[in-house]
Amino acid sequence: MTALRSASTPRVSADTAGLLQRRFAVLGPHTPMFYSEPLQIVSALGVRVTGADGRSYLDAYNNVPHVGHCHPSVVEAISKQLATVNLHSRYLTTAPIEYAETLLSHFPASLNRMFFTNSGSEANDLALRLARFHTKSSGILVSDYSYHGNTQALAALTTALPVSEPLGNHIRTFTTPDTRDPSFGLDDAFAQIDKAINELQESGHGVAAVLFDPLFSTEGLPDLPAGYIDGLCTRVRNAGGLIISDEVQSGFGRTADHMWGFESADFAPDMVVLGKPMGNGFPLGGVIAPADIVEPFSVANLYFNTFATSPAAAAAGNAVLKVMREEELMRRAQLASAQFRAGMQQLVDADDRLIGVRGKGMFLGIQFLDPTTGNPDGETARAVVDSMRDNGVLIGRVGRHGDVLKIRPPLAFGPEDTPVALDALEKSLTQVRR
Ligand SMILES: Cc1ncc(COP(=O)(O)O)c(C=O)c1O
Repeated sequence: MTALRSASTPRVSADTAGLLQRRFAVLGPHTPMFYSEPLQIVSALGVRVTGADGRSYLDAYNNVPHVGHCHPSVVEAISKQLATVNLHSRYLTTAPIEYAETLLSHFPASLNRMFFTNSGSEANDLALRLARFHTKSSGILVSDYSYHGNTQALAALTTALPVSEPLGNHIRTFTTPDTRDPSFGLDDAFAQIDKAINELQESGHGVAAVLFDPLFSTEGLPDLPAGYIDGLCTRVRNAGGLIISDEVQSGFGRTADHMWGFESADFAPDMVVLGKPMGNGFPLGGVIAPADIVEPFSVANLYFNTFATSPAAAAAGNAVLKVMREEELMRRAQLASAQFRAGMQQLVDADDRLIGVRGKGMFLGIQFLDPTTGNPDGETARAVVDSMRDNGVLIGRVGRHGDVLKIRPPLAFGPEDTPVALDALEKSLTQVRR
């Protein structure tokens, strides 16, 4: 993410420059924005957005408009509910119950309760609270390059973005291994986790939970050695901690092979955290947990959340699940992903700056290395992201060095869109080489 400090960027129109100045004046100059020259968007539909420059861009970045920008079924469902009744959960309404029933039917039977929230941050915050209450411990394990949200509790365990809060005394971090990096293998990774758990136990915090994104997307989509997640979860469980799967990125069919990242990565979480794609842009997040964790907590804590559990949010969530089913979005994503991967692999094979296709389903990446130094090359990745925008396709980048392209389109992105994105990528790789 780029924080622009001045509106004097050369290529933006006078109107966009004016809007930027107004934004700086009211939101401050440090709120993050993408691109060296910010993109002003005026409308969107399906997998395309229209810029104030009149250009249509293929969206290969945004996962919130999961079933497609401004999907008519979602717009209609929300509008209809807003025009009927939209009240908090201290009154009985049908939509949230229907939604929770449908959503829970997509989970293993033991994960049988749901909390609605307004965001992924709120959901992670609540999941940690539940874990602490259940285990009577406070220690949390997170990866050393991760982001789980913006509340104070989460700032204390944020490792991938600048935060002024120091890492909490009750937090320990671990490095995710990558098969491409032989200098830090499975044994090293497990030794680090064992050490972290010992420290938490010796300091009296104990282990409440490990919190991770099954794709480790912020970390740069590492290729994990076989057995890593299993070993991580076993160690945490043996220490009395819970496994929290942060599915804000990996949930709702993102991996194309399964509905949830934990299924794709083959582990059994104690709690699941949901967000971003859940409401297609209508604020909606959630925690899925078993009754034996939720019920005692709810007796001891009157948890109420004014805007979450609203019928309108539930209508959005219901519409997303319905469109996913009716339009067979996971099947389409499987086709598009296979096509995308094959095309990306060809580009990797032909380019000495690229070392491999990463990720799964509709969350893909390519890593850049400087061929002369062998070091991660975030600068070239940044230039390619900018060039892709010039070539009409929106993508981003992830990873500790910003060296991995982040291709994470709406799930509605189909096999007909892939060639457009691949052509632009090929063109950008050539343009950036010059
Ligand atoms: C993995 C993960 N968890 C949680 C969050 C926080 O979600 P929100 O921005 O909805 O609070 C994010 C946001 O980027 C995320 O990527």
